[in-house]
Amino acid sequence: MFSYELRTKFLNFFKQKDHKILPSFSLIPRDDPSVLLTTAGMQQFKGWFSGIETPKYLRVATCQKCVRTSDIEEVGDKTHLTFFEMLGNFSFGNYWKKEAITWSLEFLTKELKINRKRISATIFRGDKGVSRDNESYKILKNLNFDDDEIKERNRQDNFWGPTGSEGPCGPTVEFYVDEVEVWNLVFNEYYKTNPKSQILNSKQIQNSKFKIQKLRNKSLIPLKQKGVDTGMGLERVLAILNNKKSVYETDLFESLIFNLKSKILNLKSIRIICDHVKAAVFLISDGVVPLNIEQGYVLRRLIRRAIRHLYLLDIKKENILLELAKNVIEIYQKIYSELSQNKNKIFKELNKEQEKFGKTLGRGLREFEKIYKSLIINHQSLINGVAVFHLYDTYGFPLELTRELANEKNMKIDEAGFWQEFKRHQQISRAGMTKKFKGGLAEQNLKTTKLHTATHLLHQALRQILGNHIKQMGSNITSERLRFDFSHPKKLTFDEIKKVENLVNQKIKEKLKVDFSEMPYQKAIKEGAFAFFKEKYPEVVRVYNIGNFSKEICRGPHVKTTSELGHFKITKEESSSAGVRRIKAVIEQ
Ligand code: SER
Repeated sequence: MFSYELRTKFLNFFKQKDHKILPSFSLIPRDDPSVLLTTAGMQQFKGWFSGIETPKYLRVATCQKCVRTSDIEEVGDKTHLTFFEMLGNFSFGNYWKKEAITWSLEFLTKELKINRKRISATIFRGDKGVSRDNESYKILKNLNFDDDEIKERNRQDNFWGPTGSEGPCGPTVEFYVDEVEVWNLVFNEYYKTNPKSQILNSKQIQNSKFKIQKLRNKSLIPLKQKGVDTGMGLERVLAILNNKKSVYETDLFESLIFNLKSKILNLKSIRIICDHVKAAVFLISDGVVPLNIEQGYVLRRLIRRAIRHLYLLDIKKENILLELAKNVIEIYQKIYSELSQNKNKIFKELNKEQEKFGKTLGRGLREFEKIYKSLIINHQSLINGVAVFHLYDTYGFPLELTRELANEKNMKIDEAGFWQEFKRHQQISRAGMTKKFKGGLAEQNLKTTKLHTATHLLHQALRQILGNHIKQMGSNITSERLRFDFSHPKKLTFDEIKKVENLVNQKIKEKLKVDFSEMPYQKAIKEGAFAFFKEKYPEVVRVYNIGNFSKEICRGPHVKTTSELGHFKITKEESSSAGVRRIKAVIEQ
């Protein structure tokens, strides 16, 4: 069976069972600071599951593109991937365990014609906090599962979620075919809260017009509106249906592996390259660019790891990453049309990263060999933090790459030492940054002070209107205007610009008080103050609050209340660099 047939079969099956078929969501989650990437089909529905948003549909099915790096070490074996597609059916307060379990079995045995005897299941055994899933057990028994076909597992295995630090979660039933886990059925009965998180606090949950019953313990709150969230790995099922031993032998990989044409038959490296390039293509297409932070860092790691494995295979062809990327686009373009639309951007970013890292990789690997040899001579097996930092800083080796190289040689790296060194270097460059910052406000006067406060309002307004992925990437203020650079994948629409402008003006009208307090940097971050990630901060920082609207680490100066500002107007919105937008704005008196 081909992948497109499996996708279609799945979606049609659930359409016939009255599910609304929705498209895959972006790999960048919406309004969810607790996760970097979309790792499961349910992610776009977190609000619907928790009852914070009203579900538009009560039954939904999707085929969702996902990126997970938690199992990155396993990539290259038979079943693990960083990019994969998840087939899922979801119920928001509609059907429950009986329907979900029965339909899964019906799909596997009747639609896909997998012999029932190859299928087994697991259920949640129960523990101190949550009781055994007796209901699922009975349903499986009624479906003629023998006791030896139902395994009971603990919380770690059969209790899912939440994605990130907070969200809906609950016990699961997992279906296995020939001992390979293919389908995970999550019964979302709880909402796990995280006191530090910005998404919701338990009070908000309790007050939400939905469904949440009384607080049982501090972090696990029973949901009144129960939900079903299932996820089936498309690639795994495809391999099973085609009697293949691994996901890499399906139509989603065959041509990629063929095109790699390596003389060195290191299967694991070949698979890692194909998987990572595929993930990179999808990430770039959804607006991620290689950076040293957050999603950009995940992408950078994937590309650089792929380049290192190309090196191991001695594949020197200059355009190989682009050829593989083209191939990925061909495989998926009918399903994900955004790939062809973003073709040029994908090639450009891959090329840039290859040029950057390609140059330093060989030298860095030689440096690593030197370090390794000197340790061997001294009968040592720990690479110190300074050396790991040197590889990072000078040769662009992500920490994880050095860890992988060390593991291959049965060595360890001193990660704490690396972070110490990292911090030390941040402090050294702080002096330089301070100078630069002051330069931005050189002509400090009432006008620049006003524009400075307006910049804080703008920053928060952008996050509120466009999402929490917005990060300050740069700021420059003159007497005439402010200039603010921030991370965002696409041009702002006219409507978005107006909304941002209106929100800033509304806050100006609200005459919000501007004040500051001083506190340790870590405390400021914990309290949710924004920091400019490129900035190197001292241990004690000043946090400026504008009413309850904005909280930012900053040295000032600022006006005393927003009523001093006048009318805020955005005069320009343009690209600053890849993945970074630039806004210029003025204050009209
Ligand atoms: N959220 C569950 C998973 O990712 C089921 O969709 O496995």
